[in-house]
Amino acid sequence: MQIPISNRAKQVEPFLAMELMERAKELEAEGQEIIYLCLGEPDFKTPPAILAATGQALADGATSYTHSLGLLELRQEICRHYLDCYGVEIVPEQVMVSSGTSPLMLLLFSTILDDGDELILTDPSYACYPGFVKFSGGHPVLLKTDAKDGFQPRPEQVKALITPKTRGLLINSPSNPAGSILSSREMEALADLSIPIISDEIYHGLTYQGDERCILEFTQNAFVLGGFSKAYAMTGWRLGYLISPLSCMRTLQTLHQNFLICANHFVQRGGIAALQQCQDDVTDMRNVYDKRRKKMISRLRDLGFGVHFEPKGAFYVLADARHIDSNSQRLALDILEKTGVAVTPGIDFGEGAEGFLRFSYTRPLAEIVTALERIELYLRQRGADLC
Ligand SMILES: Cc1ncc(COP(=O)(O)O)c(C=O)c1O
Repeated sequence: MQIPISNRAKQVEPFLAMELMERAKELEAEGQEIIYLCLGEPDFKTPPAILAATGQALADGATSYTHSLGLLELRQEICRHYLDCYGVEIVPEQVMVSSGTSPLMLLLFSTILDDGDELILTDPSYACYPGFVKFSGGHPVLLKTDAKDGFQPRPEQVKALITPKTRGLLINSPSNPAGSILSSREMEALADLSIPIISDEIYHGLTYQGDERCILEFTQNAFVLGGFSKAYAMTGWRLGYLISPLSCMRTLQTLHQNFLICANHFVQRGGIAALQQCQDDVTDMRNVYDKRRKKMISRLRDLGFGVHFEPKGAFYVLADARHIDSNSQRLALDILEKTGVAVTPGIDFGEGAEGFLRFSYTRPLAEIVTALERIELYLRQRGADLC
C-alpha cells in the first residue's frame, strides 16, 4: 500500500546544491578528483578555545536539558555581543537559542504566519527560505532583484508588493548567494516601510568591505536570525539564535519547548567560549577568506564570467554565466562531469539567478586556483567545440 505524502511536505522543493554535491560524491567514489566550490561551509577547523570549553563541559556533565530559551549565560553573552558590535541593547528574555538558525526559521514563520499570509523574499535568495515559509502555511512573495543592486531589495520594490496579507520582509546581509551587503542607508529605508523585518545575519563576522549593520540599529519591529555556523566554523555543531520583540517570545518559547525542547547543552557552552574568546580567530579566518575572495573575483572576470558587483561578505561569488549556457543546472553538471569542479547552479536560489553559478571560496587558495584553471580549459574546449 502506498502511504500518501502530505501536501504540506510535497510543496518543499529538493535542495539542488545538495543533489549536485551527491553527484560529486559519486564521481569521487569512481576515482575522480573533485574540488568542492559548492559548499556553504567553512573549511577551517572550529577554533581551539571552543573545542576546549566544550570538552570541559562534557567532562563536567553538561549533558542535561537546559532552559528552553538556552543557557542564561549564553543569552547574556549574545546581548553583550550586540551591544559591543552594534550598540544595540537587548535583554536575554528576547533571545532564544536553538540547534542552528534553520529550526528557528520554522518556529518563527509558524509564529507570525497564518495560512495564506505573505512574506516578501528576494529572488534570488537562500534556497531553503521558500520551503520554510510554505511549510509554515505562508505564501512566499518573490521580489525580483537586480544584479547591479547585488540582488538586494530596493524599498520602492518592497513597497509595491505590500498587501493587507503582508507579514514581513526577509532580508539577508551579507547575503547568500550573492555576498552583497545592505548599507546603513538601505537598511534604514527598509526599516521605514513599517512592516516587520526578519534579518538573517548568519554571515555576520564575514564582511570584508563596508559596514556590517544589524537591523536592530534601525527598528525594534524586527527579528534577527544569527548563529555560529559560518563565522566560527561550527556548521555541524548546530547552534543558532533568534532575537525577537518580547511580544512574540512566549509563543516562540512554547513552540520550542514542544518541538525541540532546547539546544544541545555542551554545545551551548562552546557558544559562550566562541563569543568570549574567539574574535581573533574570526578575524584570522576573515583575512584568509578575503584573499581568496579577491583572487576568485579577478580570475572569474579573466575567464569572462560576469561579476556585476563586488561581493563584500559571506564566502560566495555569484557569477553570470549566461553567455556560456542559460541553463545553470545543465552547466554546473557539465562542469562537474568534465572538470571535477563542483559549483552551485544559480537556479537553486530562484529564477532571478538562472544562468548564474555560485562559487564558494571555502577551499584553500591553491585548490581555488586549480579549479579555475580546470574551468579555463573547459571553456577553451567548449569554445573549440563550438567552432
Ligand atoms: C542565508 C542562510 N541562512 C541560514 C542558513 C542555515 O544556517 P544554520 O547552520 O544556522 O542552520 C544558511 C546555510 O547555508 C544560509 O546560507
